[in-house]
Amino acid sequence: MERRMLIAGNWKMNGLQSARKEAAALIALQGGNMPGQFDVLICPPATLLADMARDAGSSGLYLGGQDCHSEDHGAHTGDIAAAMLKDAGAGYVIVGHSERRTDYGEGDAQVKAKAEAALVAGLIAIVCVGETLAEREAGQAFAVVGKQVEGSLPVGASAKNCVLAYEPVWAIGTGKVATLEDIASMHAHIRGKLKTAGGAALAAARILYGGSVKPSNAEQIFSMEDVDGGLIGGASLQATDFSAIIDVSKSL
Ligand code: 13P
Repeated sequence: MERRMLIAGNWKMNGLQSARKEAAALIALQGGNMPGQFDVLICPPATLLADMARDAGSSGLYLGGQDCHSEDHGAHTGDIAAAMLKDAGAGYVIVGHSERRTDYGEGDAQVKAKAEAALVAGLIAIVCVGETLAEREAGQAFAVVGKQVEGSLPVGASAKNCVLAYEPVWAIGTGKVATLEDIASMHAHIRGKLKTAGGAALAAARILYGGSVKPSNAEQIFSMEDVDGGLIGGASLQATDFSAIIDVSKSL
């Protein structure tokens, strides 16, 4: 199965109403429509989701949430249900980002439950995994990431409803990028785990790389065998940078 690339922006906790103009500028820079050969996604703060989904109109730009609760409604002050994201115009939701694993102590079981809620709501789950610097230096990177993949995948995961994102924690927001060899070997490792967990139907899931992706390094990273696009933080905030990353991806 041919894997369709996904170029995803994660705005994290950045963006007031005024930031909507960046998405509008991105659409304008792309001539009004996203490229037909791959998918482009922005995950803004939840406060902007509905407006940005309206702004995106028929441009083909997808919107996504950055997290969801594992339950579909109820007494969970401050949380957002996957169905609410869907209702606001999201097609995707990120679960298990390392910042949530660190800030809120989210473990694999909780990430898995959130991913399952995403699937029930009809969203595509972007399941994030990645080792810390200490784990890498201790030679544990493959074991840690393998365990995260096995523990975080939702029941019913397939290439259609799940995307994996490998984000080495030490490469996020630091300007440090994993070497191409490290990315290649980890993505192959994740692909192997997907195959074991769900056979060919899951092994065809997209695996994104995240961690200091920029216009200058995106082409090299995205052109590798088991890399099916990127999850981009800082460089997704400005339309010019994000558009440049989309542009270099068009020839891949
Ligand atoms: P940066 O691209 O800013 O390193 O962030 C990566 C990330 O965490 C995306 O989810």
